[in-house]
Amino acid sequence: MAAAGTHAFRGTFYHTPTYGQLEALRDVLVVIQDGKIARITNGDEEEAVQREYGLSEVRHLKDGQYFVPGFIDTHVHAPQYKFTGTGTDVPLMEWLRKYTFPAECSFQDLEAARHRYLLLVKRFLANGTTTAMYYGSLHLQPNLVLVDSIERLGQRAVVGKVNMDRHSPDNYIENTADGLRDAEKFVTYTMGKKCSRIQPCITPRFIPTCTPELMKGLAEIAQKYGCHIQSHISECCGEVNCVREMHPEYASDAAVFEEMGLLTSRTVMAHGTLLTDDDIRHLARRGTAVSHCPLSNFFLGDAFFKVNHALSLGLKVGLGTDVAGGISPSMLSAQRMAVVNSRCIRAHKLAVSGGTTVTPEMEKDVITFKEALWLATVGGAQALDMADIVGTFEVGKEFDALLVDTNLSGTSGPFDVFEGEDDDQRFEKFINLGDDRNLIEVYVQGVCVKRGDEFLLDGSNV
Ligand code: GUN
Ligand code: FE
Repeated sequence: MAAAGTHAFRGTFYHTPTYGQLEALRDVLVVIQDGKIARITNGDEEEAVQREYGLSEVRHLKDGQYFVPGFIDTHVHAPQYKFTGTGTDVPLMEWLRKYTFPAECSFQDLEAARHRYLLLVKRFLANGTTTAMYYGSLHLQPNLVLVDSIERLGQRAVVGKVNMDRHSPDNYIENTADGLRDAEKFVTYTMGKKCSRIQPCITPRFIPTCTPELMKGLAEIAQKYGCHIQSHISECCGEVNCVREMHPEYASDAAVFEEMGLLTSRTVMAHGTLLTDDDIRHLARRGTAVSHCPLSNFFLGDAFFKVNHALSLGLKVGLGTDVAGGISPSMLSAQRMAVVNSRCIRAHKLAVSGGTTVTPEMEKDVITFKEALWLATVGGAQALDMADIVGTFEVGKEFDALLVDTNLSGTSGPFDVFEGEDDDQRFEKFINLGDDRNLIEVYVQGVCVKRGDEFLLDGSNV
């Protein structure tokens, strides 16, 4: 008899253990036991493996179906999902006051928060985000609702209560002591669930809205509980200039965060488009990661984040949607935007040269869909200190995976497949053209949390 929770798939698995290389595990048999990958072996060994694990059946993937590791979104603002796709007309500091703070404040209505957060988590799971690093909102209670919603639907997540104690609207601000108390309450509530999928995160919003006392106190809480930390760093000119005015004694955002004790090996800083090379080296020394949010950077940023350059300086880099600064909740979109961003850097360098010769130096920043997939899986896992747990298909890792079906031709799917196309071409089409319709099953810790239109853990539909 198979042990409870043991099952197996036979077919083709795509993943990116090495940056820039797409590896296809063709006709392999993957055994999953208690949420973890127990065995990866040649498909020919099916009978022997079935006997060994007492499996009554092995699920064979159909032609044109593949597994890929679940996507890891390293930067999402959960309450902002409500207005995603709108409010794209103003720069960051105005955007926060005009759209973002009012929207986040409205989550004090807990019934509304419950409804909205279930929609959010469903939307992200449907788009293949098996792990998300979420910002909640300022007030404690709605963040507990967010954690409950994630737990209920089966997603893996790192979640933070936002802290802000200055330069914020009168109805969306906390005093320092209350902020620290509520941050700790949030941490103990989330840890108290003893749900291995969900971890709390310390979340000073960004330097302009946090006093040094708040930031230092938050760093102490993070240290006390071994928590992740998230914030925004060197995002755009408006933000950076504001910090320079407020803190003339520090040379950069990185220097402020360093002094506050917020740069740790469990810290993820979003954006970083205006980081200097010295800043990047400093973050790398601390083991701090950057969440690259290309689509958001196009709307709210002023510069390009150079992924290859940052990686070459030793920085950990993951990928983020930054909903709602980024207008798409899809990590497929984020991957495509990362590629486009890299090609814009190339075009910019050529324009600055004034010539018509593309030099190797101009090509250095270009990435392909393979690097982008690495960022969305392995890079994210490294950023979240989960590289031993998720990101690739390896024995001992947890099975967070997406079953991709490329057979949806015509109007039932986002792209067409033509005769003679091989698996690699079909998979590349999925990464470049696919969407949630291709994701027919979503697995977290070996459990199918979504199949077709149904969210299996709470029995609800899309
Ligand atoms: N900086 C401070 N808050 C935010 C936010 O909500 N989104 C983005 N993109 N940047 C920020
Ligand atoms: Fe953000």
